[in-house]
Amino acid sequence: MAENPGMPVRPSGRLLRAPEHFLSPAQIAEVTAGRRGFLRGAFAAALAGTGGVAAAQGTGDANILELPAHTKGLGQPVATHGYGQPSQYERNLQRRESPGLTRVSAASVSFAPLQGMFGIITPNGLHFERHHQGWWDIDPSKHRLMINGLVKNPLVFTMDDLMRLPSVSRMHFIECGANTGMEWGNVAVPTVQYTHGMLSCCEFTGVALSTLLDMAGYDKKAGKYILVEGADGSSMTRTVAMERALDDCMVAYAMNGEMLRPENGYPLRMVAPGIQGVSWVKWLRRIEVGDMPYGTKDETLHYVDLMPDGLHRQYTSIQECKSVITSPSGGQTLLDKGFHNITGLAWSGRGKIRRVDVSTDGGRNWRTAKLESPILSKCLTRFNFGWVWDGGPAILQSRAIDDTGYVQPKINQLRAVRGTRSIYHNNAIQSWRVAEGGEVSNVQVY
Ligand code: MTE
Repeated sequence: MAENPGMPVRPSGRLLRAPEHFLSPAQIAEVTAGRRGFLRGAFAAALAGTGGVAAAQGTGDANILELPAHTKGLGQPVATHGYGQPSQYERNLQRRESPGLTRVSAASVSFAPLQGMFGIITPNGLHFERHHQGWWDIDPSKHRLMINGLVKNPLVFTMDDLMRLPSVSRMHFIECGANTGMEWGNVAVPTVQYTHGMLSCCEFTGVALSTLLDMAGYDKKAGKYILVEGADGSSMTRTVAMERALDDCMVAYAMNGEMLRPENGYPLRMVAPGIQGVSWVKWLRRIEVGDMPYGTKDETLHYVDLMPDGLHRQYTSIQECKSVITSPSGGQTLLDKGFHNITGLAWSGRGKIRRVDVSTDGGRNWRTAKLESPILSKCLTRFNFGWVWDGGPAILQSRAIDDTGYVQPKINQLRAVRGTRSIYHNNAIQSWRVAEGGEVSNVQVY
């Protein structure tokens, strides 16, 4: 489809204006002069209760009164080749690197734009990325998965071998243990893309790890742990307890109905539901069965919790119950007082979400939000909450409770246990301040 440089670009937030530093000057002018004005008008019409037609007649809206070219001419033909792309008006919704983080060669992270996404599934082109030594597009015909260690029959699988086996498909979230890490030390990054965007949720398809371990004849007595190893230059290796490996882990080759994307581990990755993202080893090439935790570099130095006394907790693997309001959120601007739908995501590495409460006054009063289906174990759950904004200052928060009864903590409760120098596993309640003008920003409420 032809580019139309004169058209306004939908900002990376829904209904709301995006932070200006994400847009080029030309885009800023387009968005502020055109798009925002249009939305204000549309919202006023909805409030008047008579619908958009009456308002449009009143203002002589050319978009109603004149027939646009697309109702009179011939549209574009069906795609004969290539991979389908989103509308040109959606091109501002992208993965982005945080302005607050320094890239170390190819070792980097790009954050998912949670503020502009709907439902619970992350489109493959918006899935966050975290790789320690860059990504590779590995030839699947040469890729192998080896299973060795405490097994009767060490095995090597080709991709063809794996794809012949019984397959399973399940929806799960993946969250990097470092997600929301910059909030520990009070450094408030501006938008939900950077506070919480190391989070995605997909339908994964692959082979249950229990199937492969059974085929290899793992030692049921001594085999207490597995080590999963990636084929990239980071020598990424992680220990997973056998109990969890047999429960719901899988080796996945597909995500959201198509083969994995190269940056997400094509052609094979570990899916470890509920466990922090680092254990979802990409470009998976080896699984070793062992009798004790392996204590590799990526589990002793990194992705562990630094406690106030300067010591690390030995292992933390589960992503505890957490939630965040994705809209309205930092960097967006409310269009007008009146009705707004507060929406967000909740998840728990221990099971299902039981309830989400929302506060609009900084935690003094809480009301229960509506959970949208499906509500699945170790999967994102979408919540919605209707709010009538009176135009005054407000502080929006969400608090999730999972089916074990665990309640998402406040940041000061977490800091009381973990101090302020941690990086990982921050599942605190997130607060967004709404100013009188409607601007939304990141704040911390104790
Ligand atoms: N696997 C390998 N082989 N190399 C890596 O750098 N990064 C890990 C994990 N698996 C990584 C890896 C980290 S830290 C995270 S959070 C997740 O992959 C990110 O997965 P994604 O890039 O698909 O979002």
